[in-house]
Formats: sequence, C-alpha cells, structure tokens
Amino acid sequence: MPHDFMPGLAGVPAAKSAVSDVDGERGVLEYRGIRVEELCARSSYLETAYLLLFGVLPSLSAYQKWSEDITHHRRLKFSIIDLMKCLPEQGHPMDVLQAAVAALGMFYPGRNVRDAENNYWSAVRLVAKLPTIVAAWARLRRGDEAVPPKDDLGFSENFLYMLTETEPLPLWAEIFDDCLILHAEHTMNASTFTGLVTASTLADPYTVVASALGALKGPLHGGANEEVVEMLREIGRPESARGYVESKIRAKQRLMGFGHRVYKVKDPRATVLQKLCSSLFQACGSSPLYDVAVEVERVAGEFLSGKGIYPNVDFYSGIIYDKMNMSPDLFTPLFAMARVSGWLAHWLEQLRENKLFRPDQIYAGEHNRPYVPLDQR
Ligand code: ACO
Repeated sequence: MPHDFMPGLAGVPAAKSAVSDVDGERGVLEYRGIRVEELCARSSYLETAYLLLFGVLPSLSAYQKWSEDITHHRRLKFSIIDLMKCLPEQGHPMDVLQAAVAALGMFYPGRNVRDAENNYWSAVRLVAKLPTIVAAWARLRRGDEAVPPKDDLGFSENFLYMLTETEPLPLWAEIFDDCLILHAEHTMNASTFTGLVTASTLADPYTVVASALGALKGPLHGGANEEVVEMLREIGRPESARGYVESKIRAKQRLMGFGHRVYKVKDPRATVLQKLCSSLFQACGSSPLYDVAVEVERVAGEFLSGKGIYPNVDFYSGIIYDKMNMSPDLFTPLFAMARVSGWLAHWLEQLRENKLFRPDQIYAGEHNRPYVPLDQR
C-alpha cells in the first residue's frame, strides 16, 4: 500500500498516549490532564514525576513511600564514580551521563521488563540517580571529590547541594524544582520517540534512557539551551540584538531557542520560565543575559512571528541556570534529569501493549545493478 512520506514524521502519530498533551495553537501543555502552570504553582518535581509515571497524584502515604524510595536510591556505587573518573575531563556532561546510565544497567540485575516490581525499582533508581551523576561529574572533572547526597534534603535542594557542597537558598531550590517540572515531559518528541523505539525491542530501561539521552543531546532538541546562552553572550548587549537577529535571518540561519514542531504560539514553558527569572532576579539581582534575551525575542518577533516561530522552553531556562552559577554544558543534563520521568512514563505505558517499531521506507535507489570488480571501476 503506498504511503505519503512525511519528513521528520511530522504529524504522524507514533503512539496512543495518556501521559501528556500539547495544544500547539493555544499554547497549552498538560501532564496527565493537569496544566503545567498549575503543577509549577502547587506541586513538586517528585510528585509530578509520580503523576507522570503512575497516572494519578499520589495519596499522602504513596507520596511518602515514593519520596523515601527515591531518597534511599540517590547514592551511586563507587564503581560508577570510578568509571567516571576514567573519562576525559573535557568530556561533555551529556556523554558522561549517557555512559554512566548505560553502565548503571550492568550493576542492577533483574532486567526482565515483564516484571512490574523490577520496573518500579528501575524507575526509582533512574529518577533518583541521574542528578547524582550530573552533580558528581560537575565536580570530578575539575578534580574535586563527588559530594554524596544528603538524606534530609529534598530532591532539588539535594541536587544543588551536591553541586556545591552548600545547602542552597530555599528560593533557588523552589525555582530549580519548577524548572524540573517544566522539563519533565513533552509528548512525542525526538528523545521520547527514540526511547520508545529502543523500548519496543524489550530492552531494559537503562538502555532505553541511554538511547533517549543520545537524542536529547542534539542542538535541534535539548542541546539548544546551551547554545542559547552562548548566543546571548555573543550578542552581549540589547542594542546589538537587532543586528544579530537580522544577520541570522538574512543568512537563513536558525535562532537557537526559537521555533517548535508543535507550538505555533509562544511555548507556555517559556512564559513560566520568564516569571521564574523575575522571582530569581528580585532576590538575587538581574542578569545582563535576560535583557539581551528580551530584546532578541522582541526583534525576532518582527521577522518570525508570521511563521508561528516564538521562544521555546530552551530560550529562558539557561538564563536561570547561569544565574545559579551552572556552566552551560550542564544545561542539557539538567533537562535530562527532569525528562527521565517522562521517558519512563512512556516506557511503562508502551510495555502494556508493546509492538516492535519497524516503520517502512520509500525506496529511492536503483535495482539490478551489476557488481563491477574492483580492478574495473
Ligand atoms: N530560527 C529561524 N527560523 C526558523 C527557526 C528558528 N529557530 N525555526 C524554524 N525556522 C523556520 C525555518 O527556516 C523554516 O522556514 P522556511 O519555511 O522559510 O524555510 C520554517 O521556520 C519551518 O522550519 P522547519 O525546520 O521545517 O520546522 P521544524 O518544525 O522542523 O523545526 C525546530 C522545529 C527543529 C525546533 C526548529 O524550530 C529549530 O531548529 N529551532 C532552533 C533549535 C531549538 O531551539 N531547538 C529546541 C526545540 S524545543 C526542544 O526540543 C526542547
């Protein structure tokens, strides 16, 4: 049966899912039916991760158990730390994260994905340990020892503590937690799809997450947040934004942090992130990058809004992380340690009615070519 070819599978459904929904015309994002703005205002990342994974908000006792399970699995085996110490210090943190997650799978038996109990503990370990890996690498690569997690600290507080060995300001932990909520899930994007393709072979969840991490790394997907901050630094001051934007548009190059396959209006996550910027700056002083970003958005709007191209989630997130003294190459790993809950939610959902992904292609090559021996070519 002939099929239309849709480059990038644009608009082609790859799954039936109840995990999240995007209305790209109205700029609405819901996790399990709850708007992301409401989750940022009222929930926590850990509770949101539970909602994504298990479909409902947890009862008090379920939340306590989930939270304890995560807290008790945040530590890394010393061999994982040793393995990371062997990696080159200039290695990109996304590559290190991918290598460490792939290695993690080898340390935990029970990779049978038909076993619901195993799957629960795999999900707990992955959600719990990704931040520990990211924080450990941020320290190990500059010759410091990794800081072990502190059991009396919440998820985001503990991550910020493991980075600096100092307990963060409560406001920083709250804002960072909201950033994690905003990055936790986003329907059938490239990394989720990659994870599902791997999952459809019944590979174990560590392999699923390692493959999703590879897709997230690219600059057209999660890697854009790192490039946005580089771009804002290069522009330097608001007065230079127009010249920069115009030269990019003239050269038919892309502005990083703009555009989205689904949103035709401003990404609702970008709007929440801007509000988080304001809260952070009220407490800790402004950021010159923010003033440049606002001007870039204004000027870019003149050229790109007609095409439905507006800031996406990656445009303002890096400004917050930069203000929290995190280096740009950590931005995509921060995205990953939030998104792991979305990847795993889709993985659990797919396992219920799994079918191996094996798409078709439209063959555009030749047939019946003769083989020409090497000495006659
Ligand atoms: N800057 C300038 N023009 C753009 C941009 C941009 N950021 N994004 C799209 N366009 C233009 C294209 O040049 C094209 O113009 P044309 O029709 O005149 O040729 C038109 O918009 C459509 O572009 P496509 O590439 O077909 O749209 P697609 O849906 O494939 O693009 C994508 C989505 C890849 C995210 C794109 O907008 C982009 O490259 N953005 C920059 C990278 C980025 O910020 N990625 C993060 C996305 S969010 C996330 O993954 C977490």
